[in-house]
Amino acid sequence: MTETLDIKITKTTHSRLAETDFDNLPFGKTFSDHMFVADYADGEWKNLQVIPYGEIGLSPAISALHYGQSFFEGLKAYKHADGKVTIFRPDKNAIRFNKSAERLCMPTLPEEIFLQSMAAVVDLDREWVPSKPNHALYIRPFMFATDPYLGVTPSATYKYMVICGPVGPYFSKTLRVKIETYYTRAAEGGMGYAKAAGNYGSAMLPSRKAAEEGFDQLIWTDAKEHKYVEEMGAANAMFMLDGKLITAEAKDTILDGVTRDTVIALAKEWGIEVETRKVSVAEIIEGAKTGKLTDAFGAGTAATIASVGSISVDGEEYFLSDPKTREFSQKVLATLDAIKYGRAEDTHGWNYLVG
Ligand code: PLP
Ligand code: COI
Repeated sequence: MTETLDIKITKTTHSRLAETDFDNLPFGKTFSDHMFVADYADGEWKNLQVIPYGEIGLSPAISALHYGQSFFEGLKAYKHADGKVTIFRPDKNAIRFNKSAERLCMPTLPEEIFLQSMAAVVDLDREWVPSKPNHALYIRPFMFATDPYLGVTPSATYKYMVICGPVGPYFSKTLRVKIETYYTRAAEGGMGYAKAAGNYGSAMLPSRKAAEEGFDQLIWTDAKEHKYVEEMGAANAMFMLDGKLITAEAKDTILDGVTRDTVIALAKEWGIEVETRKVSVAEIIEGAKTGKLTDAFGAGTAATIASVGSISVDGEEYFLSDPKTREFSQKVLATLDAIKYGRAEDTHGWNYLVG
């Protein structure tokens, strides 16, 4: 049996629940009443606490701010019709959390702390888990370096925190995406597979340029030749081409997504051939031209299954079929939702019960 950790709980004296408009929840702007904080010092995690959500005091010299020793995870908790609350596949995020930590020379976090910290906040804030379709409580665990020292060296102290907030889907419409053939998100030997804060910062300029041209997301390509599709800015890119589900293999330039893994598992169970391999821009464009590309979507926790409506490359835009008519992504979305919201049996053991 796993040990129950000693987490000190201080409840808020002023809940913001009543003043929160659950019909208007732009992603990432609303936070629940509590958060989790723990400190790493002298080689161990200590001071495990749930406290009211709010500002924290930090030295302006912390190395997270200067040198980017900072990373995060993203998960969701769902409310079932019977009131149960479950978190989707947190064991996978726990593994990825520690891969990110190792890549950034930061301490790993025991899986029990990862799971129980989230469960403690979500349990206390269970009234914040929305019950509306397509809505969930987004959970953001993160770690950052806190040594007030400007030497470029791994910090000796860190904070691990969890904040949460009710959300709808990250993307509210069918995506118009651009294949990026100049800027690079991640190169071999880099940290693309880590959920490092810096990966997102470096993507902002190319994303803004694409947004100015009217695009919703970029599809990143390989750093060497810009000939192979890698992933999107906040989701893995998946395609149904010639009846096969294809997506880039998970390697050091790509975030190994939990949603991607889940979609692959379901597709295999349905007898669909799955190929995780190098996916060329040329074959995707050819598929779009010939109609063999019958589905294209971003897969991610925040994004859920986000349909791609058109793909542009080198100034040419290729339009895909109406997302409502796409058999595969519609079935994946419906199946995933049924499992996450407890309407279908969780035969894979993907739902982690809170409370
Ligand atoms: N790729 C990037 C860059 C992401 O930020 C995300 C979101 O977490 C994903 C892929 C999808 O990963 P997951 O399905 O684990 O959320
Ligand atoms: C997630 O899906 O959890 C993400 O981290 C995407 C995001 C950067 C909003």
